[in-house]
Amino acid sequence: MSPFRYAVLTVSDKGAAGQREDLSGPAIQELLRPMGAELEEYRLVPDELPEIQKAIMEWADQKQVDLILTTGGTGVHPRDVTPEATRPLLDKEIPGMAEAMRSASMAKTPHAMLSRGLAGVRKKTLVVNLPGSPKAVRENLSIILPAIAHAMEKIQGDPRECAPQP
Ligand code: MTE
Repeated sequence: MSPFRYAVLTVSDKGAAGQREDLSGPAIQELLRPMGAELEEYRLVPDELPEIQKAIMEWADQKQVDLILTTGGTGVHPRDVTPEATRPLLDKEIPGMAEAMRSASMAKTPHAMLSRGLAGVRKKTLVVNLPGSPKAVRENLSIILPAIAHAMEKIQGDPRECAPQP
């Protein structure tokens, strides 16, 4: 499926306060560029549940982007609320995507088990929570990239049989 339209939400108190440059949003764009993806929306918000939810709802419901990637706020710091903001907005969870990211990331760092990021579907949009650091973004996103085109096709109702996989 290409080209697809996507949106990036960086969730970071420090980023939103101008105390830290957002390198994670650009890292996502770098990885998706070779897929011919079009960045439709980008926003930097603090770790505040209503602001996270507002962006996801706006982009899934009004803009109807194919993919929303959030980065940050998936851990266990008291301010981390990205999964809590995301879960009630999902029509379906895709636990396998989040599990695959955590599981493959364990080979990189044992801290991978601290990410509580979710993947799922809202209406016709695939929504994925990535952890916050640019390194974590690259490592996690590269794990799900081989499956996202097929996921987006199915979410949008593609009736074709799944082609045999290697
Ligand atoms: N996953 C990978 N692949 N690489 C990483 O460096 N960092 C971890 C984890 N997942 C990391 C990772 C760390 S240190 C934390 S605290 C959690 O993601 C949550 O990060 P977040 O709160 O910035 O979302």
